Amino acid sequence: MQARPDESPESLQWWQKTIVYQIYPRSFQDSSGNGVGDIPGIISRLDHFTYLGVGAIWLSPFYPSPQLDFGYDISDFCDVDPLFGTLQDFDNLVKECHDRDIKVIVDFVPGHSSHLHPWFQKSVRREEPYTDYYVWHDGKTGDNGERLPPNNWLSVFGGSSWAWNEERGQFYFRPFLPEQPKLNYRNPRVVEEMKNVLRFWMSRGVDGVRVDAVSEIMESADKSQDEPCNMKGDYPQDQYEYLNHIHTSMHPEGFPLIRGWRDVMDEYEKKDGKSRFMVIEIYAPAKSRNVYREFGGNPFNMDLVDLERSGLSGQSLKSLIEEEYSNIGGGWPTFVLGNHDRNRLTFRFGREFADVLNMLLLTLKGTPTTYYGEELAMSNIEVSFEDTQDPFGKNMGPERYELFSRDPCRSPMQWDNTRHAGFTKSDHPWLPVHPDYANCNVKTQTKSDGSSTSLTLYKALATLRQKPAFLCGGIEFAICNKEVFSYIREDKTSGERYLVALNVGKVPALSDFSGSPVNATVEICTCSASKRLTTGQTVSLQGLTLNPGDGVVLKL
Ligand code: GLC
Repeated sequence: MQARPDESPESLQWWQKTIVYQIYPRSFQDSSGNGVGDIPGIISRLDHFTYLGVGAIWLSPFYPSPQLDFGYDISDFCDVDPLFGTLQDFDNLVKECHDRDIKVIVDFVPGHSSHLHPWFQKSVRREEPYTDYYVWHDGKTGDNGERLPPNNWLSVFGGSSWAWNEERGQFYFRPFLPEQPKLNYRNPRVVEEMKNVLRFWMSRGVDGVRVDAVSEIMESADKSQDEPCNMKGDYPQDQYEYLNHIHTSMHPEGFPLIRGWRDVMDEYEKKDGKSRFMVIEIYAPAKSRNVYREFGGNPFNMDLVDLERSGLSGQSLKSLIEEEYSNIGGGWPTFVLGNHDRNRLTFRFGREFADVLNMLLLTLKGTPTTYYGEELAMSNIEVSFEDTQDPFGKNMGPERYELFSRDPCRSPMQWDNTRHAGFTKSDHPWLPVHPDYANCNVKTQTKSDGSSTSLTLYKALATLRQKPAFLCGGIEFAICNKEVFSYIREDKTSGERYLVALNVGKVPALSDFSGSPVNATVEICTCSASKRLTTGQTVSLQGLTLNPGDGVVLKL
């Protein structure tokens, strides 16, 4: 991918130059001693971002909620749950972040509310104007006269996506939990209500939003149509993947909603001239992601989130990344490695690949998003079925819960080697801290002796990526085979060129990267490679050996 001629660090917006760091508020820092993280806790840890060189935080939901989907079931879109603090705490967070030049991105969950939201309560009672705020349906009559859902649509969390409401005497659509009724975007009032939610948070000074569950934002108007079976796999009939979601996923009538939200953000941009970032949650191939770009959204590229060890090779990385760059046109990539819905990097790839994948994320062209703890190479925790908190896991029962529960990647942030890793003073953190916290924690990894850890590597990469070659320079693929993925980042203006070489394979690889020049200087290397390579050392490009998990950035 060539650098676009008009691109220079000065021409980029803040969200193109920063790392976005995802905070799961429940798990970041508890200040109140109840075992659950909160906003004052986050404020007390802002130095972490200054240290790392992270310029933007994205907060998963902190809004009032019965916490059945841990905050993604919202009962008031315009407030803070007492569990996490107050609106005043939120305002303080924004101010404290802005004082440190850190931007604040909040989760915007437009698709559904909690069943406890007053809109839903009033909709159940058919109180105007709320009667049609949600997707209601009479259903159909079965052979024995019983009431059945209108179609076979399945919830992302398993089972029918229709729930019966006795009081109203109708089914309502709920693509996630029964306690997450779907808002009806065919009602213009709902469209306007959610725009006002955005305005509420924009007016409080937020710099951007991450839009939740965009694929499920709209469903076919005709509810009499079943979805066909997914022919690509052998799934249980109640599992979401059993069907091909032609009526409920990425419905074209949902696209203009993205434009509407973008327009709201632009209202604020116009007022103060400050760019606002709208990143959208979507798991889709490059070409489908582009549709959302046309409507003003920046889709997350989840290709790396979906990758597992069995699919990891130099060639697979090349094809995923090439696909993004060759389809993106004038768009801007937003790469992600992990999030609160997926297993941690160390679980998916093995501890030995965490650093090399962070090196990949931070040296690509595009905005990188890091899930809290990945800078330390934190690991999944083990949670028994009895102790499982995540409804997605619980719903699937004792046999299948481990395939679906998201608890393992949501354990408390590991700050130091004191009790519960410094996360809480409570005896009962909401999820257990990973037992590896004695060594895997921020304090221990902030080595003053100069030796390399996952955290110091991350910090060094965050600094390096501020160079024009990484921010906006072109990317040219070099050697890419089973083991090695490598590329050159180049800034044409200054002539600065870097070779990034990563071994993501199973065996050591000896590669010849020589051309012009023959030698290069080591800029940064992963902890594993630091046994053989040191910063500032000159190496011959003719025969460079990288072991699995080794990564190196060389200045050419
Ligand atoms: C998104 C969130 C996930 C949540 C779901 C329903 O996919 O990332 O955590 O459960 O939406 O809101």
